[in-house]
Amino acid sequence: MNTTRRILLLAAMAAAIPAYAAKPIVMGFSQVGAESEWRTAMTNSVKAAAKAQNITLKFADAQQRQENQVKAIRSFIAQRVDVIVVAPVVESGWETVLREAKAAGIPVILADRAVDVKDSTLYTTFIGSDFVEEGRKAGRWLIERAKKSPGKQFNIVELQGTVGSAPAIDRKAGFEEAIKGAANLKITRSQTGDFTRSKGKEVMEAFLKAQGKSINVLYAHNDDMAIGAIQAIEEAGLKPGTDILVISVDAVKGAFQAMVAGKLNVTVECNPLLGPQLMQAAQDIVAKKPVPKRITTIEGVFPAEVAARELPNRKY
Ligand code: AHR
Repeated sequence: MNTTRRILLLAAMAAAIPAYAAKPIVMGFSQVGAESEWRTAMTNSVKAAAKAQNITLKFADAQQRQENQVKAIRSFIAQRVDVIVVAPVVESGWETVLREAKAAGIPVILADRAVDVKDSTLYTTFIGSDFVEEGRKAGRWLIERAKKSPGKQFNIVELQGTVGSAPAIDRKAGFEEAIKGAANLKITRSQTGDFTRSKGKEVMEAFLKAQGKSINVLYAHNDDMAIGAIQAIEEAGLKPGTDILVISVDAVKGAFQAMVAGKLNVTVECNPLLGPQLMQAAQDIVAKKPVPKRITTIEGVFPAEVAARELPNRKY
């Protein structure tokens, strides 16, 4: 072999080495479930981003049960994945299993929802929304809206998310903080609708039965419950969006359609498209680069007045 051919061959071999050396990252992902339009968008975003970044994704749907998440995490540890991602269904009860992951030397990323643990070294970073701020935004919208009807009393019914989940706890706290001190705004009933349409409808039916026409505001912790409740309001012969103001969180397409139809008044955005940020964080963590402990997503508020204009731009 002459020198030129030898050089070309060596160059070709050198170019081929990274392809063999770059072993794809294996990520174990424990998802809450498939309870809402928002959740489906988040799952799709994670799957697409993993594919785009050549990350092998082991996906486990917990069907809204913490015990399924604990099992999935233990299985990821046994499989020695490179990184574990959890979107925790509830806030508490994670210490033991997170300590097991730490002892196995596997970094944990929290996605979407936070956990309540004393030792913050049990996870590397938390990527997700500021749920308290989302609740405040919903409350501030109502305060502004109420100014248009001076002297009117607003009786608010609240559909909470899954009991013990970070968004349910925080959206309630943020909303209450924002309306505190407004004597014309009062939460008269508050119950969980578990973030689903069917439960949202069922609980709204019960609210209407118990309190009837004195309800004039619904604050739902997500769009799916609001959409279920809108059905209940219509079936009770009332006009959602007019007789009862409807405020919700997520800003999924279904909420924009309801706003265009005049049945929902405002939705506060909660961005589910976490996939790209999540994969980037995983790459950095595996490469031992520093990552911030908290990565927050940037979100807006969409009142019904802008719904028709915004609907074609919505990606989820
Ligand atoms: O954790 C985010 C919340 O979970 C979304 O607001 C809700 O729709 C989902 O089920």
